[in-house]
Amino acid sequence: MVGYEQIFERNRKWVADKLAKDADFFEKLAADQTPDYLYIGCSDSRVPANEIMGLEPGDVFVHRNVANLVNNTDLNVMAVINFAVKHLHVKHIIVCGHYNCGGVKAAMQPKDMGILNPWLRSIRDVYRMHAAELDAITDEQKRYNRLVELNVIEQATNIIKTANVQKSFQKNNYPIVHGWVFDLHSGILIDLDINFKAILKDIQKIYDLTGIESEYNEDGE
Ligand code: CO
Repeated sequence: MVGYEQIFERNRKWVADKLAKDADFFEKLAADQTPDYLYIGCSDSRVPANEIMGLEPGDVFVHRNVANLVNNTDLNVMAVINFAVKHLHVKHIIVCGHYNCGGVKAAMQPKDMGILNPWLRSIRDVYRMHAAELDAITDEQKRYNRLVELNVIEQATNIIKTANVQKSFQKNNYPIVHGWVFDLHSGILIDLDINFKAILKDIQKIYDLTGIESEYNEDGE
C-alpha cells in the first residue's frame, strides 16, 4: 500500500515530470477543457479511465459509479451527460464495463445487499430482459461475463434514450455512443461494436424525444 504521505511526494514528482516534458503543461491545462470523449465506467479501482485509454488530463470527461449504470432518475449521471453533450460537445460517449465486476456479481446473488439493492436492481433488470440467453449459458463464469456485456449495452441504450443525445445527433451527427469492456486478465479493451444508429432508430419508435417541445426548458429529459 502507498502511504498517505507518499501520495504528496508522488504528486510533486508527477508535476516535475510533466513540466520537464512541457513547461507550459499546467498553464494549458488551466486554460480550458475540450475533451472529445465522455467515459462512463465502474468505480472499481482496477479500471482507471485515462490510464487504460492512454489519454492525458484534459482528454476525457469521466463519470464512474458502481457497475457503470445509467439510470434516468440519477441526477448525477444525467447532469454529466447533459454537460458533456450540450456544453463540451463531446464526439463520443463510452460506457465501459469490466469482467470480474463486483457490482454485476452481487446482482447475480440471492442476497439482501442493503442500500445497494435499489442500485443493483438495474442489473437484475438487465438479467430479466435477457434471461433466456443468460440461462442457456451453463458455465457460470461465461454467464457472468455475458451479463457484464449485456449491462454495458443496456446502459449505452439508456444514454441513447436521452433527449440531449438524440437532439445533438440529429443536428451535428455526434455524439456516437459506444460500449466497451475492459478485461482485467489481459488489460485489453474490447469494443462491443454496438450499432449506434440501429439502436437509435429502433428505440426512437418509443423513445423519440427530438420533436417534443419541452414545457419546462431546453434541458428537459
Ligand atoms: Co465493477
